[in-house]
Amino acid sequence: MTDILTHTEDGILTITLNRVAKKNSLTSAMYTAIADALDGAAADASVRVAVIQGHETIFSAGNDIGDFLNAPAPTAESPVIRFLRVISTFPKPLVAAVCGAAVGVGTTMLLHCDLVYAGDNAAFSLPFVNLGLCPEAGSSYLLPRLMGHQRAAEALLLGDPFTAETALEVGLINRIVPPAEVHALAHRQALRLAAKPLASLVTSKRLMKQELAAPVAERMAEETGLFGKMLREPAAKEALTAFMENRKPDFSNC
Ligand code: COA
Repeated sequence: MTDILTHTEDGILTITLNRVAKKNSLTSAMYTAIADALDGAAADASVRVAVIQGHETIFSAGNDIGDFLNAPAPTAESPVIRFLRVISTFPKPLVAAVCGAAVGVGTTMLLHCDLVYAGDNAAFSLPFVNLGLCPEAGSSYLLPRLMGHQRAAEALLLGDPFTAETALEVGLINRIVPPAEVHALAHRQALRLAAKPLASLVTSKRLMKQELAAPVAERMAEETGLFGKMLREPAAKEALTAFMENRKPDFSNC
């Protein structure tokens, strides 16, 4: 599908989010395409590294808001939940290149990547509460551990966007470069990883994530249940409809 481009060369699978007119917001079909590509890369011995990137101006505006309103509540088998499961358990190194806005799952997916390079135009935001929702992708577990409760509260409760500098300071990203250089840098680092012994990479990554695997999976399951329930409640309906109607939400009755 053209909203997701995949390319494999030199042992690197590159996945490009390519729905720029809709700010690379992610539809069910896009989640499925990414999960299929990652599953294929995990099983293919000739692929050693995966890279996920957007456009120089936009990484991703998160879940497609229309899908939030129309798709059935997420279950373990939903495309988005499969995508989160696949990305959070991908056994090989995963590199992300982020320019522009990274909203919602555009930011939370980075918690599951190994190396993240960002443009100085990157802006990270987690507006779940503003949408009447709750965190997903294990972010309610991983973000406070990464940045401390108070900073996580600014990001998750106030929904305040944070800059590439803050993301670097708290350890969400590895380096900031001009937007025009981000994809090339991610590719160079992927090439360096691809030249290393695959078994060592996979074993090292598994060991590094061993303690987190079970609690993250457990938290993601809990978040999925709550998120699905909240999607059907008046606050989310109001917030999502307000976005589609290009107006401010009114939570006075929520
Ligand atoms: N789902 C569906 N469509 C989206 C979208 C989303 N998450 N984000 C942006 N779009 C669409 C807009 O509706 C608009 O479509 P149109 O041209 O047909 O009217 C187009 O993408 C451009 O978006 P726009 O808001 O005009 O771009 P911008 O540069 O002013 O702002 C963002 C970019 C990312 C800051 C802004 O689009 C935004 O906040 N999006 C919603 C993010 C969000 O809440 N995601 C859910 C997270 S849980």
